[in-house]
Amino acid sequence: MKHIFIGGAWPYANGSLHLGRLASLLPGDVLARYFRSKGEKVLYVSGSDCHGTPVAVQAGQEGIEPGEFAGRYHEEFAACFEKMGFSYDLYTRTDRPAHHATAQELFLRLLERGYLYPKTVLQTYCETDRRFLPDRYVEGICPVCGKRARGDQCDDCQTLLEPSELKERICKLCGNAPVERPTEHYYLALSRFQEELSRYAGQAEGWRDNAGKITKRYLEEGLQDRAATRDLAWGVDVPLPGFEDKKIYVWIEAVSGYLSASKQWAAQSGERWEPFWVEGEGEMTSYYVHGKDNVPFHTLIWPAILLGAGGLHLPDRILSCEHLTLEGRKFSTSRNWAVWVPDLLARYEPDSIRYFLIANGPEHRDADFSWREFIHSHNGELLGAFGNFVQRTLAFVHKSFDGSIPEGELPARWKTSLEELYRSTGNLIEAGRLKEALEGVFAFVRKANKYFDEQKPWLQIKDNREACGVTLHNCVQIIANLSSLLMPFIPFSCRRIQEFLSLPEPEWQIVLVPAGRKLTALALLFERIESSRIAEETERLLAKLT
Ligand code: MF3
Ligand code: ZN
Repeated sequence: MKHIFIGGAWPYANGSLHLGRLASLLPGDVLARYFRSKGEKVLYVSGSDCHGTPVAVQAGQEGIEPGEFAGRYHEEFAACFEKMGFSYDLYTRTDRPAHHATAQELFLRLLERGYLYPKTVLQTYCETDRRFLPDRYVEGICPVCGKRARGDQCDDCQTLLEPSELKERICKLCGNAPVERPTEHYYLALSRFQEELSRYAGQAEGWRDNAGKITKRYLEEGLQDRAATRDLAWGVDVPLPGFEDKKIYVWIEAVSGYLSASKQWAAQSGERWEPFWVEGEGEMTSYYVHGKDNVPFHTLIWPAILLGAGGLHLPDRILSCEHLTLEGRKFSTSRNWAVWVPDLLARYEPDSIRYFLIANGPEHRDADFSWREFIHSHNGELLGAFGNFVQRTLAFVHKSFDGSIPEGELPARWKTSLEELYRSTGNLIEAGRLKEALEGVFAFVRKANKYFDEQKPWLQIKDNREACGVTLHNCVQIIANLSSLLMPFIPFSCRRIQEFLSLPEPEWQIVLVPAGRKLTALALLFERIESSRIAEETERLLAKLT
């Protein structure tokens, strides 16, 4: 048995989840469900990133505690993930004492081992607001590409920045030009990991192309030491005297969540976290699932922290997706050009959303969500291909065989191709190629529909009832196996099929349902979505645009 750690990115608890965010996280759940059904030991964790200035500032505006403000979104995220079927072993939040303790422990360990050093630096300070400005609150022109950028990162060219590097700087809070003031901070000696991280990234397998490219660029430019503390009021305290007003920089702190959540899970479940983390404890593989903006934090900073701490397992696979656009345009949460997950879930089934996001998601290149494509994918693929096959087979068994599975034996050629399908789908999922994996299963669904059409059970029943039974018997076996193969992708519908057929928890191998077993009452798996909804939804979207 292998130990598989899956770390989903930690969404900022400062606004609702939109579909692009969900698209970047969903692959984590597909992996978790797949590996569990294969019998591996899985630990899948994430949580809400509750710290950071946006939370503190918005809470201040509302006159409430930052923890309360973040808690509101944390609850919303947790509810969305649950409704979407995300099977986290633990979904926690960074403003928990357990997380603070782990982040501080890692910080002190890095200090002890000489990877953190103090340095007095000039920090951007706003005289109007009378405060040091967090990186994201300094805006200006990116020195690399010349586009508008924030003080921590340029979203256009993905360069990691220090606010002082920006040209024509302004304070985002008041719009005035900030000044510089001296302040003391700890720095992470990232440059000392140059060689080790180059070797690590060079040997990486199973990273998405964008992760490889972005990481290589940083390494070629030469790794720069990065600030590890910040002048902030809301975050994890720097556990050192003289640093009472400072916090551990959110990037070092948030990624520590992978380890802190693992430890919390262990404490709560009575299991051990070490087999997922400590080198030498056995066979382990770690997957990290996020959007491409997060790449350097997972391929350089987090590995540097783990190397610096010593003895901990580095990320193996990086599933970093590209961007999702909406009706051909970039998502803009400020202009409300977005599909919000709670709103979507109020009107659509989680499996329809999951299916769309895997089949048409931004896995290797940017992808678009349009209401037309979404509704067509539901009606055409889920309902039209898969749902139809299940429904017409099972309805036939109910109608003509009194609901009990007719006699037959699945022919060897079907068994072989199903075995092959388990193998190829599993390999693709493990390689992070979920879209192809899902396409492969749906190609099989089409084959199954074709078999049904060619056998013509509606004619067979008239002159050869036994032959008709054999056709249906085979179709039922195929359905049972499709429900295992599709479980990682569309768990809700698969669970219902497994109930219709009284199947046990699915495993990643051929399952056969004995003839004579009674089907339970059949219900509709998917309902058609009227195409008039396309116009309705598009109008709704435009109406909310600000
Ligand atoms: N909250 C950050 C973001 O949304 C970080 C996410 S992943 C983390 O970009 F592991 F680094 F926290
Ligand atoms: Zn200001």
